[in-house]
Amino acid sequence: MKTLKVALLGCGNVGAQVARILIDDAEVLAARTGARLQLTGIAVRDVAAKRTVDLPAELFTTEAEPLIKDADIVIELLGGLEPARTLIRSAIDNGAAVVTGNKALLAADGQDLYARADEAGVELSFEAAVAGAIPLLRPIRESLAGDRITKVMGIVNGTTNYILDQMDSTGAQFADALAAAQELGYAEADPTADVEGHDAAAKGAILAELAFHTPFDLANVQCQGISSITADDIAAAKDAGYVIKLLSIAERLRGLDGREGVAVRVHPTLLPRQHPLAAVHGAFNAVFVEAENAGEMMFYGQGAGGAPTASAVLGDVVSAGRRMVGGGPGRTETATVQLPAVGLDSVKTSY
Ligand code: HSE
Repeated sequence: MKTLKVALLGCGNVGAQVARILIDDAEVLAARTGARLQLTGIAVRDVAAKRTVDLPAELFTTEAEPLIKDADIVIELLGGLEPARTLIRSAIDNGAAVVTGNKALLAADGQDLYARADEAGVELSFEAAVAGAIPLLRPIRESLAGDRITKVMGIVNGTTNYILDQMDSTGAQFADALAAAQELGYAEADPTADVEGHDAAAKGAILAELAFHTPFDLANVQCQGISSITADDIAAAKDAGYVIKLLSIAERLRGLDGREGVAVRVHPTLLPRQHPLAAVHGAFNAVFVEAENAGEMMFYGQGAGGAPTASAVLGDVVSAGRRMVGGGPGRTETATVQLPAVGLDSVKTSY
């Protein structure tokens, strides 16, 4: 079986989980991919820093470029604009497939990176950049490519949903709920990006680009966060039968001049408590997609956190690896892993 060399850049909550899965689930990932995925190294700023997962010390290095030069697949989980942008460009120039979860970079500079990847004939995938574990970008980009999406609306930031949910359900103070979200690994390194809505704005811009097949400048997102929401606001909303949620809304609209365009906005919203988005608790995300022919769909799942986001990263890695070895989706596994059928009379089912 062929071996594909995988370089990991970054070892925060998500990166550490990605490394763990690559090591612990090596057999199953090889079967799914049709090639062994060998983690050749993890580039970090500080090799001595404490990690959320115990990983072999010899994997760590501060030298990203040599790792990238030797890699078939580069996973970028550093976050932020630099050095992530330079390293992704370097990976593309070296002909490696790139998998990233970097929404800030894609929202700011995605068009340049997509064009570079296209020109180099390499894959750049980023399912983990929006809505954590939820398969959302691939359905929007691929499954709905034959339709016309009119609106993408939902909760795309787990940290702020966790904070608002804690304030609503337990009466927690904003600062305590934010500290808990950081402790649970949901928040960005600088949580200002979460609470001021910038993270949701970046995700809204990425969703708009994919849904409407058009470049969309992040500067055009109208953005308001939740930092000014008080316990009194939450209580008043509750008394009136509402819940406050931070929504990201991307729509195809006709402006006053009659021309069609795209509007993206992020803001706290009062939702009736019986609205489906009102039932999205903790760090979960939920996104409605509306398309002319398909109608309305809802995507729901864990939107933040190490393991859920790592699941989306690994999905992209396996897909990229499959294409590199010429296997189609699912075909490779059928050849190597077999599970017996279980008789349903021996299983108790309950829903
Ligand atoms: N800080 C982000 C969130 C992480 O809370 O949703 C996932 O993108």
